[in-house]
Amino acid sequence: MKIAFVGKGGSGKTTLSSLFIRHLAAAGAPVIAIDADINQHLGPALGLDEDEAAALPAMGERLPMIKDYLRGTNPRIASPETMIKTTPPGEGSRLLRVREDNPVYDACAHPVELDGGTVRLMVTGSFTDADLGVACYHSKTGAVELCLNHLVDGRDEYVVVDMTAGSDSFASGMFTRFDMTFLVAEPTRKGVSVYRQYKEYARDYGVILRVVGNKVQGTDDIDFLRAHVGDDLLVTVGHSDWVRSMEKGRPPRFESLEDASRRSLRMLQAAADATYELRDWERYTRQMAHFHRKNATSWGNERTGADLAAQIDPGFVLSEALTAAV
Ligand SMILES: Nc1ncnc2c1ncn2[C@@H]1O[C@H](COP(=O)(O)OP(=O)(O)O)[C@@H](O)[C@H]1O
Ligand SMILES: [Mg+2]
Repeated sequence: MKIAFVGKGGSGKTTLSSLFIRHLAAAGAPVIAIDADINQHLGPALGLDEDEAAALPAMGERLPMIKDYLRGTNPRIASPETMIKTTPPGEGSRLLRVREDNPVYDACAHPVELDGGTVRLMVTGSFTDADLGVACYHSKTGAVELCLNHLVDGRDEYVVVDMTAGSDSFASGMFTRFDMTFLVAEPTRKGVSVYRQYKEYARDYGVILRVVGNKVQGTDDIDFLRAHVGDDLLVTVGHSDWVRSMEKGRPPRFESLEDASRRSLRMLQAAADATYELRDWERYTRQMAHFHRKNATSWGNERTGADLAAQIDPGFVLSEALTAAV
C-alpha cells in the first residue's frame, strides 16, 4: 500500500508519517519509509541522530543507477539518459517489490530499527532551488516517482512517503501514485487552503484524499475543520507529549504513546487498508502514460532530443500478478 502524507510546512507531515511508520513497524508489517519533503526530517523523526541522518544515501544522487536498474532490458528505453521521471515501465523493465533485496535498496535504503521491527528508510536528499522547478530532469522527487511507478506492492506491506504538496508533485504524476493520501492540516485558514488546492488537482484523477487534523485542541478546532473539509476529515490528533519528549532527545518506548494518538494511527491504517479493494492497476498504468506524455511534450522531448512518448508500451499493465524481471 502506497501512502503519502502531504500538507503545509509545519503542519506535522513528518511527525505523523513517523508515528504511522512506527505503528506499522510495531505491528510487524514490512515498511519502506521515504523522505521526499523539502525539509528532510524523517530520519531524525525516526530516531536517527544528526550524523546518521546526514550520512543517509540520497536517492537524488543515485538517479543514473536507479534509472539503469529499472530500465532493465526494456527496448523502448534506449539509455538511462532518455529516462525521465515519468518514463513508465514496459516489457523488460525491472520492477520493485516491498519485500525483496535489490540494487536500488542496496544503494539507497538504510535500515532503521524501531520498537518492534526494522524499516527501510530512503531519502531524496536535500533540495536546492533547481529541484523545485516543474521540469527538472534531475528532480529528486523524480527518483521517488520512478520507484513508485515500478513498484508492485501488495496488501499488508507499506510504502510511506513524507512529501511536500508542491507544484513539482502536480506537474509530474507524483500526486496520483498513492492508494491513500493523508493531508495533514492544522485547524487554520492556511491549513485548509492547501486542502482545497490539493482537492482541486486530485478530483480528475480519482485520488483518495483524507484529512488528518493535527494540533487540534478542542471542539471548536474540530468544527472548523469539519466546516472546511466536510466528510474528508478522517481523524484529528491533539498535542502529543510523546512527540515532545522525543524532540527533547528523550525518545520514549513506542508502547507508551498516548491512547488517543494510538487510536488515530489505527484509524489511518484501517482507512489506508480499505483502499486495497479500490485498486485499479489499469487506471494506474494509464495515468503514468498520461503524465509521461504531458512531460514529454512540455520539456522532456526537447531536453533529451528523443520522442519520449515512444517509451510507452501500449500492451503493458503494471500489476501484482507480474513476476519480477531477472
Ligand atoms: N501532534 C503533535 N504533538 C506535538 N508536537 C507536534 C505534533 N505535530 C507536530 N508537532 C511538532 O510541530 C513541529 C512541525 O512538525 P513537522 O512534523 O516537522 O511538520 P512538517 O513535516 O509538516 O513540516 C515539530 O516540531 C513537531 O514536533
Ligand atoms: Mg517535514
